[in-house]
Amino acid sequence: METKCDLFPLLEMVMSNMDEGVVVAEHKGQVLYYNPAARELLGFKEEEPLTDMKGIGAIKLQKELLRAALDAGEHDAASRPSGNFVRFGSEIGTGNDRRYLEFYTGIVDAGEGKERLRLLLIMDRTEKKRLEAVLSRSNGEGLVTKDPRMLELIGRIEQIAQSSAFVLLQGESGTGKTQLGRMLHTLSQRARQPFIEVNCAAIPDTLIESELFGHVKGAFTGATQGRPGRFQSAHKGTLFLDEVSEIPINLQAKLLRAIQDQEFEPVGSDKSVQVDVRVISASNRNLRELVEDGGFRADLYYRLAVIPLTVPPLRERPGDIPLLCDHFLRQLRRRGYPEEVQIGRDALRVMMDYPWPGNVRELENAVEHGVICGLDHLITADSLPQDIRLHAAEVAPPLTSTDGIDERDRIIDAMRRATGSRAVAAGLLGIDRSTLWRRMRKYGLS
Ligand SMILES: Nc1ncnc2c1ncn2[C@@H]1O[C@H](COP(=O)(O)OP(=O)(O)OP(=O)(O)O)[C@@H](O)[C@H]1O
Ligand SMILES: [Mg+2]
Repeated sequence: METKCDLFPLLEMVMSNMDEGVVVAEHKGQVLYYNPAARELLGFKEEEPLTDMKGIGAIKLQKELLRAALDAGEHDAASRPSGNFVRFGSEIGTGNDRRYLEFYTGIVDAGEGKERLRLLLIMDRTEKKRLEAVLSRSNGEGLVTKDPRMLELIGRIEQIAQSSAFVLLQGESGTGKTQLGRMLHTLSQRARQPFIEVNCAAIPDTLIESELFGHVKGAFTGATQGRPGRFQSAHKGTLFLDEVSEIPINLQAKLLRAIQDQEFEPVGSDKSVQVDVRVISASNRNLRELVEDGGFRADLYYRLAVIPLTVPPLRERPGDIPLLCDHFLRQLRRRGYPEEVQIGRDALRVMMDYPWPGNVRELENAVEHGVICGLDHLITADSLPQDIRLHAAEVAPPLTSTDGIDERDRIIDAMRRATGSRAVAAGLLGIDRSTLWRRMRKYGLS
């Protein structure tokens, strides 16, 4: 379409190629420019160009704008030169075409003597919404996250759940492997069949064979009765082999055959048993390295890891910490702890700086510790477990320096660690949101 506003060709090229929609309109609503992404996202045809903001009828833009502006306390936004941008979401389309769009819009100065313009940015958040819906559907599992890598992982899990492919979940202790394994089962066609967990590290080497494959009466001293193993219990369902790296090497050939042929002999029996079992395994050790060191059979590894997935550690997704804290506080409340315990800003900052060797499980314990040791319904840094407090005392740099250059870097760092959430970044820096916003503007970061 023709543009009436004076855009540099380069800028226009960028806008023609980006995924986000851009619409520029006169203050009163007459559209001056929009890029191809905007046309696609809003779903109108090339032959019927958008001429007026009112044309974005399906979205009831005016109403949404007004509501968002009121929510943000920006009712007099139009009379202000800047800082008047509002963000809101809207669903458009129906059925399979349904899309969830996020809008970011405000009035911008177009230069001296020129009429001010309305700028509208449109982002497609459909995928994110879909994953959030998956999360809330499987809420029995109580998984919370908004971390892009975790959401991608969950998207992957949803995608592969329907197949019977074997999945290996790797990640540090307490990152959520067991929970994700359960989610995979819940989303699969085997959901109504058993989900059987075996923690290979918790069973002595001498017992693990009979635990997995069962035994017949008299198979060994003390076997006064026959007993089916976990493989049989998992028939038609899912067998979750936790800490699979701990399977003794001399048993690995039998395990390989059992999962490959879906057939095995219980201890002391020469009659084979047939099963239909999907195996999901988990390990907090790097299995591939273990294969290279000769501690794990390569053929078994490739069988188990048809789909290898890695769960990121908590320290790489600090943006999830406030979310998880809220989640665990809610859980504690259900268990009878006092209502309305809040997490203080200093505590949150300390937690977001801590490297979490025990990951989510350690965070869960820290929140409970804080609830018990906090005063006046407030979790402060002092009420957190000792390891976390000591770490904070050792490393915490003063976060409120007056040195402008330092501060700019710290803000950039905090925004990066908070994966773009201004609220989280403000928590990290120990300042409030509006202060952060002001300083970002000061340093040209908004
Ligand atoms: N994203 C999450 N949302 C809510 N709770 C979580 C999340 N991730 C983990 N948890 C909780 O943290 C604890 C540890 O998770 P889980 O047992 O799944 O970790 P794991 O990786 O299997 O640990 P391990 O290596 O010790 O087996 C559990 O209580 C689980 O419910
Ligand atoms: Mg586990």
